[in-house]
Amino acid sequence: MTVNPARKVLLEASGITKVFGTGAGQVMPLKGIDLKLYSGELTLLMGPSGSGKTTLLSILGCILSPTDGELTVAGQSTLGADAERLADIRRNHVGFVFQSYNLFPTMTARENVMLALDVRSKAVPDPNADAMRALDAVGLTHRAHAYPAKLSGGEKQRVAIARALAGSPSVILADEPTAALDAENGRTVMALLSEVAKDTSRAVLAVTHDHRTLPYADRIILIDDGRIESDERPNKSDNGGGTTQVHVSTGHLNLNGDNGNGTSESKAGNGASPAANTSATTAKPAANGQAKPAPTNGNTKPNNANRATGRRRKKVKHHV
Ligand SMILES: Nc1ncnc2c1ncn2[C@@H]1O[C@H](COP(=O)(O)OP(=O)(O)OP(=O)(O)O)[C@@H](O)[C@H]1O
Ligand SMILES: [Mg+2]
Repeated sequence: MTVNPARKVLLEASGITKVFGTGAGQVMPLKGIDLKLYSGELTLLMGPSGSGKTTLLSILGCILSPTDGELTVAGQSTLGADAERLADIRRNHVGFVFQSYNLFPTMTARENVMLALDVRSKAVPDPNADAMRALDAVGLTHRAHAYPAKLSGGEKQRVAIARALAGSPSVILADEPTAALDAENGRTVMALLSEVAKDTSRAVLAVTHDHRTLPYADRIILIDDGRIESDERPNKSDNGGGTTQVHVSTGHLNLNGDNGNGTSESKAGNGASPAANTSATTAKPAANGQAKPAPTNGNTKPNNANRATGRRRKKVKHHV
């Protein structure tokens, strides 16, 4: 698979290790991770339970500090950063999506999204308009005033994605975003993340055990026992995405005001992602939940990294 030569490195991690605890109770879930995330790409991070995925995501998102190693997010180095500086980088450059949505039950969808704008230090001239634009991006304008209890699981996750997008952070990190969703909603959410990743100023990394998400990946990283085992850019035939049709309106996901075309054209050109088949003319995704991906393998937790792609494990390819 070819990559867009205009892609930018939005996150760079080198030599990341993490140790929890001391003495006999000490664990080392990350043992030296080197990783770059690029604009315009949806990267999936897969691996067995306990392999370090959430720990890595937490470090990349500046929730946790690494024990060793260096991290740069949107050009901001975290080397020597204290907790406040880390929080500052996180608030301004990272958006999170969690399996359990993490919406405030006493706030409407719009208010939940606006909350994310509150924490970003960049002043937003019209937070309401920004929040509504983010909700529009996920096809939920009509649910803006609904409380989470009135939303379906898929809708809640789409609000969570809107919240992550609000304020246009450079890096979106999602931890098992489809794990609590049924097949159709899972596909809709992945189609959205795939669209979100087309923005030329944004990179998306999603941790997943869900084989249904594979057709949406531009890149798949397998991690095992705290080390990257493989790092590949699948071809359509590898992930079964060849016949995927994802009916998502691309026009609603550009929250930055740029044309958002560069990388997505490149992706369309290489044909490696289902996003390449995205229809820009269909209705908003989510509004009708029309995502029709390739045959799915179900949502299973692989017990080894090989199963994550159904392929033989390969030596790490540092192609990126
Ligand atoms: N705060 C902590 N203190 C001690 N050990 C921890 C802590 N957080 C994670 N660990 C350990 O680090 C290892 C990696 O955990 P992590 O949550 O990153 O795995 P994971 O790949 O996300 O697993 P899963 O797929 O089950 O979510 C595990 O052995 C876990 O028990
Ligand atoms: Mg985890």
